[in-house]
Amino acid sequence: MRRINIPVIVVLLALTAMQVSAQKVTKASSTVKMDAFINALIKKMTLEEKIGQLNLLTSDMAVTGPVMRKGYMEDIKAGRCGNIFNAFTPDYVRKLQQVAVDSTRLHIPLMFGFDVIHGHKTIFPVPLAMASTWDTAAIEYAARLSADEASADGLDWVYSPMVDIARDPRWGRVVEGAGEDPFLGSAIARAYVHGYQGTNLDTDSTVMACVKHFALYGAVEAGREYNAVDMGPRRMFQFYLPTYKAAIDAGAGSVMTSFNTINGVPATADKWLLTDLLRKKWGFKGFVVTDYGSMAELIPHGVAADKAQAANLAMHAGVDMDMMGMAYSGTLKELVKEGKVSIAEIDNAVRHVLEAKYKLGLFKNPYLRMNDDRAKEEIMSPDKLVFARKIARESIVLLKNDHDLLPLKKTGTIAVIGPLADDQRDMIGPWSGAGDWHKAVSILQGIKSAAGNQAVILYSKGANITEDTSMLRQLNSNGGDIVPSDKSPDELIKEAVETANKADVVVMCLGESQGMTGEAASRADIRIPACQRRLLRAVYKTKKPVVLVLSNGRPLVLTWENEHIHSILETWFLGTEAGNAIADILFGEYDPSGKITMSFPYAVGQIPVYYNELNTGRPRNPMQKYTSKYLDIPNAPVYPFGYGLSYTHFTFSNLTLDKNIMRPETPLHISVTLTNDGNDAGSETAQLYIRDMVASVAQPVKELKGFQKVFLKKGESKTLHFTLTANDLKFYDQQGKWVYEPGAFKVFVGGNSRDVLERDFRLEK
Ligand code: BGC
Repeated sequence: MRRINIPVIVVLLALTAMQVSAQKVTKASSTVKMDAFINALIKKMTLEEKIGQLNLLTSDMAVTGPVMRKGYMEDIKAGRCGNIFNAFTPDYVRKLQQVAVDSTRLHIPLMFGFDVIHGHKTIFPVPLAMASTWDTAAIEYAARLSADEASADGLDWVYSPMVDIARDPRWGRVVEGAGEDPFLGSAIARAYVHGYQGTNLDTDSTVMACVKHFALYGAVEAGREYNAVDMGPRRMFQFYLPTYKAAIDAGAGSVMTSFNTINGVPATADKWLLTDLLRKKWGFKGFVVTDYGSMAELIPHGVAADKAQAANLAMHAGVDMDMMGMAYSGTLKELVKEGKVSIAEIDNAVRHVLEAKYKLGLFKNPYLRMNDDRAKEEIMSPDKLVFARKIARESIVLLKNDHDLLPLKKTGTIAVIGPLADDQRDMIGPWSGAGDWHKAVSILQGIKSAAGNQAVILYSKGANITEDTSMLRQLNSNGGDIVPSDKSPDELIKEAVETANKADVVVMCLGESQGMTGEAASRADIRIPACQRRLLRAVYKTKKPVVLVLSNGRPLVLTWENEHIHSILETWFLGTEAGNAIADILFGEYDPSGKITMSFPYAVGQIPVYYNELNTGRPRNPMQKYTSKYLDIPNAPVYPFGYGLSYTHFTFSNLTLDKNIMRPETPLHISVTLTNDGNDAGSETAQLYIRDMVASVAQPVKELKGFQKVFLKKGESKTLHFTLTANDLKFYDQQGKWVYEPGAFKVFVGGNSRDVLERDFRLEK
């Protein structure tokens, strides 16, 4: 190794210190400048103008393109509305901005927000799918590309990342998050924020992130949308709050409140949550916006009698901006007159909003993100499509592959059957606001173009997505798009069986429509819909080898499928390049490497089922009645957290700790050998878990504390290194303190949360 002499190091350190302190000085002086600018502006503002800055209104979409309701247009002109969402395309947004900048007294620019959740026009896989990549660099890059596109289309602010930890797949919104684990979820939350915001918000290609839904929305009771949340502080702090904190520590500029109550108090009116925790304890400096109408929903929640009381509660709790609740705009003036809300409180909220606009560079140039040339260059650019295909491939999880049925060979006759096969609409998922599904690649298209003329591809629809008329009515009530076939279910199945009989192998494309997941899409039965199960059984009876390709937005109950079907690929909703990515994996151009981030339950009755559970005083013993278990099903899910197969095979060996006794001040070094002993190159995600064996508060049987995704050539071995510090062993004690306690611990390493090697160590002071 080259030796570096000491004086050089000293000079380097001094230079670094100078750079850091220069950065601090620049930052401090830019904050002073911002403060002076905003103080001066606030001084000039009337109360009405201030209230306008706290108001967020929606634009609408007509067949002819985006339109603004007449009344809202008047509000913008009069300075009664400072922020718009659901408005994009440079031309349209420019027109609205011109109204604000030219017609209002103080020329304060509008800020434009939108639900850019997994891509703007180029649609990447749904967030639960992207989480399955365990590739935070790729997720950050997806957010970066989304920011490039969104900012080129007139947007300043995106309503992402959604970081709600969820253990209940009945809840449709699990599709928007990263799954059940706070450690992985936090890493992913940081990746999104860094991707969107970059290092400087004041550029034409960065956008402000909005962390949502604060807080605990993922824990709605029984998985029923908008339902109540009841949770003790330990579960809250250990499992559910870390992801929000991670996004905020990463610098997220805004936070959105959630629809749910927390222990009886709606999040939008929760002073403890929004002020004591978020601002005072966590030091959040950005602004807080409600979710859609959630300020007005304080009335049906039963904590406010009218909008005035709702606004009063929200303002005192720490909400800065009202999204479509019309509570601030309609009542704040009166509340000030009555002395219920002070001008200082309003100024405080206005300051948070104006600071965001300042940081976004909007006062310098209100048209910063409205550039037709950039729009032409950025939107759906070839590089984005290439990346969309790459991350889509990485998101696919191989759940089962008996007798190495996959990858398929491009020969003979392949039957592609199922309602999701020749389907573009569903591929882009439920939260793809600006995405054009006509540009999405269906599974059938992907398979056909990959196979070329090397194999014969047959197709049959086989079933509608669902025959449940009540569900269909609800799905279609919002302009849904499930178009049932003219043929009867029996006819469809008959045709499909005939098609299967002509083929060497059958690819069954089943699952959910995009509308069956996402917001307002809770399901009590999370199996594949009944008519599709009938189809699958009929095709299974032909005895043809069957590959099940699933498109869906949540963990499904796949107990029957896991017992009977040879190969199962979980492909979620993969976005614009879905079909191509699926074909890449089906034909073995790439090795599947995704790992699920939520447990797939054995039965709905098992929910919530998650890997980081407590042991109980009577851990399961199938031979003893009085232990913690079900009489009719196992405790374990069908597929555990972190699980996913590959076409090749990986073995973990030689799990070694550098010491048996760890002291708080010295990290524990862990190494393990990972060998690719299968027949292909491929990637494996090594996962490190710990268990605190004896603590003053019962600790989970496993907790993820590290992961590494590693690519290995066929036959290659690598030694992987992990480090644990005393900080990684901390938990909340009975006094709510974040502590580690000396004693016995276990370390586990493996390719999922179930199949692991383990070692013991002790922490001693
Ligand atoms: C959703 C949010 C979303 C907002 C704005 C709400 O219904 O809960 O996630 O950002 O609408 O579209």
